[in-house]
Amino acid sequence: MRRNHLLAAISLGWLFAAAVNAACNPQNVTYSNEMLPNGTYMPWSLIGLVNSVPGSKQYITIVNLTPHRFILQNTHSYQMDVFDWGDIPQGHARQNTVVYTNKPGKTAVDDGGEAYYAIDGTDKTFFVRATTHIPDSHPARTVIDLTGMGQGQREYLDPAAQSPVTLVITGSDSYGFITSIKYGAGNWMKSIYEVIKDRQIQHVVMPGTHDAGMSTISGQILSGGISENTQTQGLNIYNQLRAGSRYFDLRVGSVHSITDTSDYSFWTLHVNDETAEVAVGNSGESLDDIISEINQFTAENPGEVIFFHVRYLIGIREVPSLGPIYWTTSIVNDFFGKLKGVNNRCGNLDTSTTFNQKPASYFMDQNGGNGCVVFLLAGDLQPTVPQDSVADGIYQANRLSIADDWSDLGDTQPMAEDQASDWKQVIRGGSSDTFHISQWLVSADIVTTTLLTIEGIGILPTNPALYWMGVNNMTPQSWPTVILTDYIGVVVKGQHNWEQLSADIYTLAIGLNLYMVSENCDVSTISSPLLANANTKLKMATLSKPWNGIHFANGTIVNDPPRHLHPGRVEILRKGTRFLNGTVLEEDIINPDFNSTAV
Ligand SMILES: *[C@@H]1O[C@H](CO)[C@@H](O)[C@H](O)[C@H]1NC(C)=O
Ligand SMILES: *[C@@H]1O[C@H](CO)[C@@H](O)[C@H](O)[C@H]1NC(C)=O
Ligand SMILES: *[C@@H]1O[C@H](CO)[C@@H](O)[C@H](O)[C@H]1NC(C)=O
Ligand SMILES: *[C@@H]1O[C@H](CO)[C@@H](O)[C@H](O)[C@H]1NC(C)=O
Ligand SMILES: *[C@@H]1O[C@H](CO)[C@@H](O)[C@H](O)[C@H]1NC(C)=O
Repeated sequence: MRRNHLLAAISLGWLFAAAVNAACNPQNVTYSNEMLPNGTYMPWSLIGLVNSVPGSKQYITIVNLTPHRFILQNTHSYQMDVFDWGDIPQGHARQNTVVYTNKPGKTAVDDGGEAYYAIDGTDKTFFVRATTHIPDSHPARTVIDLTGMGQGQREYLDPAAQSPVTLVITGSDSYGFITSIKYGAGNWMKSIYEVIKDRQIQHVVMPGTHDAGMSTISGQILSGGISENTQTQGLNIYNQLRAGSRYFDLRVGSVHSITDTSDYSFWTLHVNDETAEVAVGNSGESLDDIISEINQFTAENPGEVIFFHVRYLIGIREVPSLGPIYWTTSIVNDFFGKLKGVNNRCGNLDTSTTFNQKPASYFMDQNGGNGCVVFLLAGDLQPTVPQDSVADGIYQANRLSIADDWSDLGDTQPMAEDQASDWKQVIRGGSSDTFHISQWLVSADIVTTTLLTIEGIGILPTNPALYWMGVNNMTPQSWPTVILTDYIGVVVKGQHNWEQLSADIYTLAIGLNLYMVSENCDVSTISSPLLANANTKLKMATLSKPWNGIHFANGTIVNDPPRHLHPGRVEILRKGTRFLNGTVLEEDIINPDFNSTAV
């Protein structure tokens, strides 16, 4: 009896504490209004060039989506012409610069340096090292050493001259830190359910993938599109989902036999104009493969909200000719029959208001908490055929009211400026609020695209600019709902295996939800989960897991390395080594930090 009273008292006390801390309070905002130096865009002229070290300029972008300032404590560098690092205030990013020396008589093998950061108000630190690995096709490397925050180490290949390596850090000392050197749970939305459940789905930031079916060139149509100018992704739909994508630009068509048009199958396509007399492009994954990949993902990672915005919905002949084949009711029903093979569809959702304003939990709670795979059709269906099958979870696209922002510009900088200026127009919680899709991608002409490749343009100058230019143009008031890119997860050309990817956009999206949106009390009514005395319920099921391993550039992952192993850290600080305070060593000394885990 007394025990029960005690328990009741404890839980009452807990409830009271939770209630006190529950509300979002503008006074608790930690976002800094400090301006950071502008970064520099990688010139496209460097996209196709071979990497070489002497004279090479490299960038390392650090993104801070935590309530703590990142303070630069010290640097040391040897034979670096530029070694420019600085503090990163809360909610901002800094593009740091290193230039490997071009001076005669220097051996590039010895070039290197290290930047030491402390996370303000905590006992956590992290280091970043610029190193060389010669000879190699990627001679410049960046080692991100998060040992001092219990999050391991990762050695990155610098993708190209002036193409940044990115580090995104979110979470907080009380919540636990989540970083981009490693993917966490596949069901990232479910993992932050308590934080996002009451937000409108248009207030949940999510990665998206442009022309998502085109991770392969399957040659179902004979029409000239090659990987360089037609392939837009390096990962199939299953791995795009694991890499965080929740909004898919999927273009599905039927490919018909030339001799018998009633003989057809469904494929994803990327063509210049699907209604043209002769469509130019190629096919990607088959619809059947995509369906089994979605099912594999949702079986392994229940609880997510996944939108497929499906375009085309039209037929093309194997040898594109004689114009399109508009779908008959029979083809539409065949297509719907395929989609019914997708598990966790959400039939009969309430359409009295548009989906974008419904809370995330409305979708996440469906199918017994297994979440929702929502099909939104936006193709070329003629008015005489079925447009949807609401009972089966197949809707017309306008059920989700979107602002689909495509710049249609041919270079990274104008695209980035256009995108940022557009998402700043959206007043979150105001009348212009919307499910805003930022298409963070460039539309170059066909000759340039074929020469530099969609992959090269995407992963070298364009995607990395999101993390300094894009982030520094976001605030708790301004952010896109979907960030749609080419080649999600891929950071080095041609490296598409899971252990070669980087969790940059995955961590960015989680961080924008946990940190940026949580500091906007107009759209998030509860306190930020990252604050020290936030409701403990918000911190449950965190995505942060301690790890002390090393992920090497060749993809090898060692989970229990010797404690003193820090790739790229030098044992001897050589004569000529320069520190942050300007001191230059006049003789070699043993690096006092060589064997330490924290400074
Ligand atoms: C940074 O770039 C923006 C355009 O994106 C420009 O308006 C601003 O003046 C620049 N700031 C500095 C300090 O150069
Ligand atoms: C917000 O700030 C108030 C003081 O202004 C403080 O009492 C409260 O604990 C803070 N809430 C959180 C979640 O940190
Ligand atoms: C990858 O690199 C690490 C560190 O240099 C090395 O120990 C390991 O053997 C390499 N693995 C492969 C498969 O080459
Ligand atoms: C400059 O920094 C180095 C390395 O941290 C330190 O050993 C040295 O004492 C500092 N010099 C001055 C003048 O503060
Ligand atoms: C680092 O630790 C290793 C292993 O304990 C030791 O052999 C080495 O001398 C140490 N180096 C320095 C610079 O302290």
